[in-house]
Amino acid sequence: MSQINNNAGMPIALTLEPGVYYRCICGRSENLPFCDGYHQGGEHIPIRFEVKERERVYLCSCGESNNQPYCDGNCGVELSTRARTPRI
Ligand code: FES
Repeated sequence: MSQINNNAGMPIALTLEPGVYYRCICGRSENLPFCDGYHQGGEHIPIRFEVKERERVYLCSCGESNNQPYCDGNCGVELSTRARTPRI
């Protein structure tokens, strides 16, 4: 996950509708933080994740999370106990 680098080290907070999403890890998407297919032909494969119901998610932007694509606090940010960081 070392390709994710927004120089912030902060999770990206989003409220997502139910559906399947692909988290860009190459950093070249024009639809960040989501993949737009720009990586094709490259070595990076986006991370697929699914949201079952409308909810707030915190996506890792530093590349240090052990629970990609979600932030797990390795960046130093303390997430609320209500934050969603499911295992995938
Ligand atoms: S943003 Fe990467 S662990 Fe929090």
